[in-house]
Amino acid sequence: MPTYNLKINGKLQSVEADSDTPLLWVLRDQVNLVGTKYGCGIAQCGACTVHVNGNAVRSCSLLVSSLQGMEITTIEGLSENGNHPVQEAWKEIDVPQCGYCQAGQIMTASAFLNNNPNPTKSEIRTAMQGNICRCATYNNIEKAVEVAANKLS
Ligand code: FES
Ligand code: FES
Repeated sequence: MPTYNLKINGKLQSVEADSDTPLLWVLRDQVNLVGTKYGCGIAQCGACTVHVNGNAVRSCSLLVSSLQGMEITTIEGLSENGNHPVQEAWKEIDVPQCGYCQAGQIMTASAFLNNNPNPTKSEIRTAMQGNICRCATYNNIEKAVEVAANKLS
């Protein structure tokens, strides 16, 4: 099995995996970063969202072989103590219900706000619409992204 050198949350990690292994399973099963969740496995729900070079991507559909040398950030690496402005806003608005989708929501929101720190309501809705929440926390997600944008500006 080939070895891949990945940079995950600022740390170099050497993993052995088949070249067609999705990043999600490397994160969860080999590096024990289980905050990133499996939902659909086909890039349709957003539960598995992480950052690669600062962009939000779906780790269920990214092959480990395509990621050498790239900066991968998971929810565990977004901030030192869970105090990224997006995480703080999420707590303030008390967004999560069951919580399953929330790491993906936060990773999508944080990458979005990096690129667009002063979004309109409609830009927030468009940016977040690919992340499914079975508990329908959508209104609170939108509010929390607005709060986070205020914290960042
Ligand atoms: S598990 Fe990756 S998008 Fe649903
Ligand atoms: S909080 Fe339950 S799926 Fe989103």
